[in-house]
Amino acid sequence: AGPCDIYSSGGTPCIAAHSTTRALYSAYSGSLYQVKRGSDNTTTSILPLSAGGVANAAAQDSFCASTTCLITIIYDQSGRGNHLRQAPPGGFSGPESNGYDNLASAIGAPVTLNGQKAYGVFSSPGTGYSNNAASGTATGDAAEGMYAVLDGSHYNGGCCYDYGNAETNSHDTGNGHMEAIYYGDSTAWGSGAGSGPWIMADLENGLFSGVSPGNNAGDPSISYRFVTAIVKGEPNHWAVRGANAASGTLSTYYSGVRPSVSGYNPMSKEGAIILGIGGDNSVSAQGTFYEGVMTTGYPSDATEALVQANIVAAKYATTSLTSGPALTVGSSVSLRVTTSCCTTRYLAHTGSVVNTQVVSSSSTTALKQQASWTVRAGLGNSACFSFESKDTAGSYIRHYNFALVLNANDGTKQFREDATFCPQTGLNGQGSSIRSWGYPTRYFRHYDNVAYTASNGGVHSFDAASLFNDDASWVIGTSFA
Ligand code: AHR
Ligand code: AHR
Repeated sequence: AGPCDIYSSGGTPCIAAHSTTRALYSAYSGSLYQVKRGSDNTTTSILPLSAGGVANAAAQDSFCASTTCLITIIYDQSGRGNHLRQAPPGGFSGPESNGYDNLASAIGAPVTLNGQKAYGVFSSPGTGYSNNAASGTATGDAAEGMYAVLDGSHYNGGCCYDYGNAETNSHDTGNGHMEAIYYGDSTAWGSGAGSGPWIMADLENGLFSGVSPGNNAGDPSISYRFVTAIVKGEPNHWAVRGANAASGTLSTYYSGVRPSVSGYNPMSKEGAIILGIGGDNSVSAQGTFYEGVMTTGYPSDATEALVQANIVAAKYATTSLTSGPALTVGSSVSLRVTTSCCTTRYLAHTGSVVNTQVVSSSSTTALKQQASWTVRAGLGNSACFSFESKDTAGSYIRHYNFALVLNANDGTKQFREDATFCPQTGLNGQGSSIRSWGYPTRYFRHYDNVAYTASNGGVHSFDAASLFNDDASWVIGTSFA
């Protein structure tokens, strides 16, 4: 059985079932998600390998070979058509044209389920999906449940990495107009024990960890690599629950009456569905989603215990974030441009600006050093890499406003993540393309001889689709200095 078969047996059926990794009903063999590739902007749907099975990641890999791919639709498996698409602007605008949010890279969150490869939905700040015309979702004070399987190593304090019930106009329409799972370490509203991240309920104008609108010590920090997060609500009663999605059972962090501030009892749920954003399209948060559902009716703890066991049995595990030529931590490298204009140019820096410069064996020692980088384990994720300047020890290539810059490590999580890059086989077939860990739609790219982390066909001039694969492919070799 799948999670939604279990919810049906418990009398609280799924009215939305979203996953890019697997079918959530044992009989489901339809589309899981749709991807769009950068080379020709065509789309294809990814299905399970068999009914009830894991996604056919190989079909994605073949469709997306030698180009970039975005996740355009996350299909609803419940049959109600509650698909998630690129979220529109609301109280806040997203970074894409007309204020739409970014779409997620199709390769930012590779995992295995029972040894079979699949991809989750890696949301960078700016990324969001929604359905503002969902059917069958709870409205008003009606009962509902929801769970999501998330990456406990990918979160931030921005508003608001949510999955669940929200406003149908993407605006903040008041307290109680949302009921969604929140995951992250925001302390702008509520918080729990320790320093986070926490599972909380986004009920609008507040992330709630218990009955108080502030800190509730009963809600623990939870950061398993795979986290099961649950929020459910019914008239004057709601709960927050969580577990390690790879083993063990659920714990209840709060179960009780609605918060002790006005506007949340009764609730005024509107019934839209959001993923990765706040109810007003706040787009500052990051997180990774593998699967999740919403139900009608308040699921019992017994039903959720069976769902958790089903998730554990799916055996989520990590897999490599990199491909292509291997990099050795501690080695000193150069990165040569492969675009035909510029094959004598190398990634270098002039002060804090990262650019490309013509370098050869007869260049000055200073220039050779400016074009030499020490490979380090990724500061933000040791499965990827960071590049330390040869001539300015302690300074690393990081992106800032999507320009590549050389900055001293300031010790913050933001710096570490901005300085972490995951090489993959070169998009143009040469060398390596160097993907930003935190913004996996973005790659090291030279544009007018200045270096950026660029998204194929995105809104900035440096995102131009023309020459993207060549500009974003680098031959990594032994350094000059
Ligand atoms: O409730 C927290 C956030 O407040 C909501 O997600 C957003 O709509 C508002 O800014
Ligand atoms: O480069 C994009 C973002 O710009 C970085 O993550 C952040 O440090 C800056 O705001």
